[in-house]
Amino acid sequence: MNYKVAVIPGDGIGPEIVREARKILGKVGERYGHTFEYQELLMGGCSIDEYGEPLTDETLEAARASDSVLLGAVGGVVGKSDWYKLPPDKRPEAGLLKIRKGLELYANIRPAILFDELSGACPLKENIVDGGFDFVVMRELTGGLYFGERKTVEENGIMKAIDTLTYNENEIRRIAKWGFDVAMKRNKRVCSVDKANVLDSSRLWRKVVKEVSKEYPEVELTDMLVDSCAMELVRDPKQFDVILTENMFGDILSDEASMVTGSIGMLSSASLGATKLGLYEPSHGSAPDIAGQDKANPIATILSAAMMLRYSFDLEKEADAVDEAVKQVLKDGYRTVDIMSEGKELVGTVKMGDLIADRI
Ligand code: IPM
Ligand code: MG
Repeated sequence: MNYKVAVIPGDGIGPEIVREARKILGKVGERYGHTFEYQELLMGGCSIDEYGEPLTDETLEAARASDSVLLGAVGGVVGKSDWYKLPPDKRPEAGLLKIRKGLELYANIRPAILFDELSGACPLKENIVDGGFDFVVMRELTGGLYFGERKTVEENGIMKAIDTLTYNENEIRRIAKWGFDVAMKRNKRVCSVDKANVLDSSRLWRKVVKEVSKEYPEVELTDMLVDSCAMELVRDPKQFDVILTENMFGDILSDEASMVTGSIGMLSSASLGATKLGLYEPSHGSAPDIAGQDKANPIATILSAAMMLRYSFDLEKEADAVDEAVKQVLKDGYRTVDIMSEGKELVGTVKMGDLIADRI
């Protein structure tokens, strides 16, 4: 089969990690008889430099016309880069929000896995993570506080800022279904996270999630308040299978989840909607401080490309092959600097890509 992939290298380390992911897709294509046809698109700071905005409508249309989108990372350093002198809706990150919304990618899956080989990097005590953990954060991505009306006004000489948090039941229902569907393929446990002791949007969330759960009698549903969940993630991460939550809570908890794995450079992510078109990107950012130095860990992007094979193209065995190749490279003792430990062999971005490609 031929697949049309829109590639958005983005800023910082984005271009280098995307290049390695393409290397891996190339190898998968060779090995399994597929071709990937790429169209390179600009988004983020590089698009601001070229077009004066972080994502043009033409670029969004090009992404929409593809079978799937592979993204590196966008953004620079706040306070350092001129991009942050622009109004908020013209900054690099606004491009990301616009593409998610424009492609209606409302379901964001962020796996948090403690890789056996890297358990030493986990900041939690051994007795807490013994045996490893493997859960996903299923984050609603196109609603809530990040997309509500906002404004800053001055009233009687006093500045006031307003952000609004809105969810309707349809938005909750469709993400809840994703959560339960994913749980069905995993360990059949959904923990729905909200702040129902305070927020109306959370009370509606809880009610709708409960309704949806009736369609999935095999899945065990629990509810947890978000502040409590923040504690439970470090107290006992093994208890989780699928954490289902709204946009802002998911943003925060997925960062916490990646930190407890100790290796954010390893974590992939997929943003999906009602069609097969998805956006695949590493969970980490653009790391401008190490850009262009062959230091970045390409594995999160490579695993994101594997998720693309799995979720957008239904190429299960090809996706498994990529996941396996990554595990094998770790087993063979190769590490980029972010996951380096004593006695292992330090390699750069390019070499890591080569080593993984060799194992496919
Ligand atoms: C993420 C990021 C983005 C988000 C920012 C850059 C807008 O933090 O993907 O988690 O909050 O969604
Ligand atoms: Mg975030």
